[in-house]
Amino acid sequence: MEPIVVPKGLDGVIVDDSAICTADSDNGTLIYRGYSAVELAEKASFEQTAYLIVYGKLPGRNELAEFSQFLKKNEEPDSNTKKIMALINKDTAVIDLMRSVVSLVPTNETKQDRVLLEIAAKMPHIAADGYRLINGAAPLPSISGTYAERFYYQLTGKNDAEAAKYLEKLLILYMEHEMNASTFALRVTASTLADPRAALTTALATIKGPLHGGANDQILNYIVKMDTKDEAVKFVDDRLARKEKIMGFGHRIYKKVDPRAQFMKKELDALSRLKHTEKLYDIAAAIEETVWDRKKLPANLDFYAALIMHLLGIDHVFYTPIFASSRSFGWAAHYLEQVGNNKLIRPDSRYIGPTGLKLR
Ligand code: COA
Repeated sequence: MEPIVVPKGLDGVIVDDSAICTADSDNGTLIYRGYSAVELAEKASFEQTAYLIVYGKLPGRNELAEFSQFLKKNEEPDSNTKKIMALINKDTAVIDLMRSVVSLVPTNETKQDRVLLEIAAKMPHIAADGYRLINGAAPLPSISGTYAERFYYQLTGKNDAEAAKYLEKLLILYMEHEMNASTFALRVTASTLADPRAALTTALATIKGPLHGGANDQILNYIVKMDTKDEAVKFVDDRLARKEKIMGFGHRIYKKVDPRAQFMKKELDALSRLKHTEKLYDIAAAIEETVWDRKKLPANLDFYAALIMHLLGIDHVFYTPIFASSRSFGWAAHYLEQVGNNKLIRPDSRYIGPTGLKLR
């Protein structure tokens, strides 16, 4: 068979069919299983959306109740896993801790969908308990409430339904994004018929990078230091003059607008009024406007997500883990889709090294 040479980074290449999600760059739309992701963020719960993503249809009342209970019942890691977490080095990044713990956390389930969901259900506690344990503190107790309320409590120690609602919308928009880098990596691992835990570990390793999920942890670094819109404009110009990337901008798919970012921008507007921190919103909008003016790069979800999480009082160490926890439901759907119609993913490379070298 004649080899096909594809663009570097597989830019613009379709590698498989998928019925889970599609992002349209021209119209700036994101569809989860046929529904607008933004509409789901506005009107659906995290649990409903997670069920939709994994099983391909919105849950009925009983299905939703059973699914929500399953997530709640399986949220805590077992005592041995907690003991292991307590031994992990204090300086370990939470996303690294998650990657290591997910690779060995025991599961009670045997069916692949249940194993994936059981691990996904534990992600918030693995992140929060793990962070506390490596810092010598006791994990917070589990509370009742929705997935988002429980997650928010684990992150902040606050039982606050209003704040959790902002988090829930963000979690829904973080849940799935078709063939992004971590999902593709997961599908490569799944295509070898490695088990769900192995595939989730691959995905967690891949999401960490600053060009992917790690971007949201780098945005506060620059933005909280600014006081005026003029500083924001100068920051952008200086960065671009030095040919440095500005985290939270640009996207492989969205070249004009990231619909998730625009939705979260409105959320930030509302939240900053509530918290009387309108200046933060104004500076963010000025950065967005300047980056677009100078480079025609849109703000991506991570830009506004980081600011929302900051105003919700969430420590930046949890930003990438929050993204990963939600995305684990998208990863679960992709694992099942891959193994349900599998072919080993094994591309080829064009050799450009030497040949014919001889040993002395
Ligand atoms: N800041 C400044 N310039 C950027 C940029 C950014 N955030 N993102 C892209 N560019 C520039 C590149 O330098 C390049 O410029 P050039 O053509 O003059 O060399 C051009 O835009 C194309 O960028 P490229 O990195 O090749 O596009 P890509 O599709 O491969 O990359 C990202 C997409 C997401 C990796 C890239 O936009 C990026 O690194 N963004 C910052 C990290 C981030 O926010 N990641 C989260 C994504 S949701």
